[in-house]
Amino acid sequence: MAAVQDMARLQRMLFEIERQFIATVTTQICRVGEIELKYLLCQHVWEAAGHARFLRERGRELSGFGKDDSVREGFRKIFEEAIRADDPMTALAGFYNVLKPRLLDAYQSYLAATHHLADWPSRNLVEEFVGDEQRHEREIRPYLEGVDARAWCERLGGAVDAIGGWLGEREVKALPDDFTWIHPDRPYRHPATCARGKYPVCSSVFGHDPDEVPIVRDWLEDPETDPRVIRIMVYVWLMMEVDAVDYLSTVFYDTAHAPFDLHFDLARHLWDESRHSQFGFRQLPRLGVDLNTLEHSLELFNILVHMTPAERYAMMTMEFEAGSFSTKAKVMDSVRELNDFEADTLLAFDRNDEQGHVRYGHRWLPEIMRLFGESRRVDDFVKATQKRFSELFETYGKATPHSLPPEKRLTANKIRKMVETGS
Ligand SMILES: [Fe+2]
Ligand SMILES: [Fe+2]
Repeated sequence: MAAVQDMARLQRMLFEIERQFIATVTTQICRVGEIELKYLLCQHVWEAAGHARFLRERGRELSGFGKDDSVREGFRKIFEEAIRADDPMTALAGFYNVLKPRLLDAYQSYLAATHHLADWPSRNLVEEFVGDEQRHEREIRPYLEGVDARAWCERLGGAVDAIGGWLGEREVKALPDDFTWIHPDRPYRHPATCARGKYPVCSSVFGHDPDEVPIVRDWLEDPETDPRVIRIMVYVWLMMEVDAVDYLSTVFYDTAHAPFDLHFDLARHLWDESRHSQFGFRQLPRLGVDLNTLEHSLELFNILVHMTPAERYAMMTMEFEAGSFSTKAKVMDSVRELNDFEADTLLAFDRNDEQGHVRYGHRWLPEIMRLFGESRRVDDFVKATQKRFSELFETYGKATPHSLPPEKRLTANKIRKMVETGS
């Protein structure tokens, strides 16, 4: 029967694994093309953040858990290796066929090692995490069907075997003689653009020409616009928040040494954006929009990936999100006329979430700036960042041509026609 310190030590390890999973698996989100897979990864990251937070809370009740949020080198290097796969589906196979099943083993071995009555508070948590891990495995399964990553998974499995399983609960097996770590020689880099799989792409869905883009800003703000048109436009807007999913997901790895509380809030923010995008993704087809005609906008990712993590986070929270409320308020007023309770609800939750995101920005931007030795005042930094964004826009903005000719793609005029003729 294990003593308190032994159980605290195991909880510490479990915390570090969940934490490092979040910091690394997020690098694959912008690389996978399937939109629903992006959504699922965001959900798993959020749930992993919950596991890590509860482990830390419970762990700190026990003596020996430790005060900081750091991750030991022995774990760190396995996760570093896991993101060096040649393609994202192989990387995900590594995470989901090896690293997470081994985490499930670790949770189960925790349950076997602890005293069911003495350590009841931990037992409850861990039992719940076991259920989550089993569900994650079922949820990811359809996406990994047909992905042949046996060699990659065997390598990663060998790396975990070499430490005797995550908790040292198994026999230690030495790494094969021909094993070499890839990551020390291959610095990690985010991709220059994000993947959107089968969907057509463009630079931006916002514009002024109703025969060019689906969202005409002046129409959104114009009280004369048919609210049914506004409703489709705002769902397009929400669905395109998948671009926020892609660029926000890059911030985790870049701030891997930040306090865990930052990653907890980033994980919530990420999951919120994936839900906002799903509002559009689920509702648009019901309103008659063929998603294959809706181009995805790439320019924000393509610009932001050239900025520092602090600049990326500043643009997102202090500019895009803080600047969206007045237009969205007008949109909400217009949509309310439709008596579409579901649309009202989705927009109200979106607004509430976005207020949270701006609060996160105020809390964490100074912290991220500090992490990178940025000593300017926050206001000055935000102003300078806006300027740099406009400069980078000249090079990386408007650079993605339309995948579809105007007659095939969804445009504002087509939305109007759809609404007026019902086709
Ligand atoms: Fe959002
Ligand atoms: Fe947001």
